[in-house]
Amino acid sequence: MITLKSKREIELMRVAGNIVYKTHKYLEPFLKPGITTQEIDDLADAYIRSLDAIPSCKGYEGFPAAICISINDEVVHGIAGPRKLEDGDIVTLDICACYKGYHGDSGWTYAVGNIDEEKKHVMKYTEEALFVGLEQVKPGNRIGDIGYAVSEFAKEHHLGVVKELCGHGIGTDLHEDPDVPNYGLKHTGVKLREGMVIAVEPMLTAKSPRVELLDDDWTVVTEDHHPAAHFEHTVVVTSDGYEILTGEWKDG
Ligand code: MF3
Ligand code: CO
Repeated sequence: MITLKSKREIELMRVAGNIVYKTHKYLEPFLKPGITTQEIDDLADAYIRSLDAIPSCKGYEGFPAAICISINDEVVHGIAGPRKLEDGDIVTLDICACYKGYHGDSGWTYAVGNIDEEKKHVMKYTEEALFVGLEQVKPGNRIGDIGYAVSEFAKEHHLGVVKELCGHGIGTDLHEDPDVPNYGLKHTGVKLREGMVIAVEPMLTAKSPRVELLDDDWTVVTEDHHPAAHFEHTVVVTSDGYEILTGEWKDG
């Protein structure tokens, strides 16, 4: 079921989204060689709770950590542990927070020290792909318009589109209808309407789009072990476009 959010609900989702944004800004300076992913996760957990929110990932379908931390060939859903970040890594923090019953969700890929050209390429164009997808978010357009735009852009830049994972509606549940795939056909799928809240999240790979699941049953990695990147914002459909909820605070 697709729900349209009321003004009151959107106000709460703005707060939830802003908590996610602030958590990204808080964690970014810690992403240096030598820190363990467990240390990052602990910092995230404490910071989100200090803002009167709950890390939504913890316990979600049994997920054991506060946020998802995915390195290099890990696409999404990496679990914190003793692994240390190294110079030359790229690391994706996918952060979800729940405030007064409403969720915000944003993923971002960061460089650790100096990264190679392949990683620079996949990071730069996956971030751009997010905004290319978001350009399609307006009333009357359809879900397929987003996926079409993302996949055409990925093709232009020789990146793979992970098809096994999608963006999603979001609200009182972290994952709501509709699915928001990163591929699709123009003018197809659910029509976007003012008040819908969706997470748009291209997950693109440097080479083959094929992925596999690690034995921990969570971490999704590229089959060819080339790097992947992931950029995600939670947005509300407005009368003429969209508003990013997981960005900087906007007054008025
Ligand atoms: N942002 C992630 C997603 O949309 C959140 C996953 S929470 C987890 O898939 F618990 F499943 F990891
Ligand atoms: Co998401």
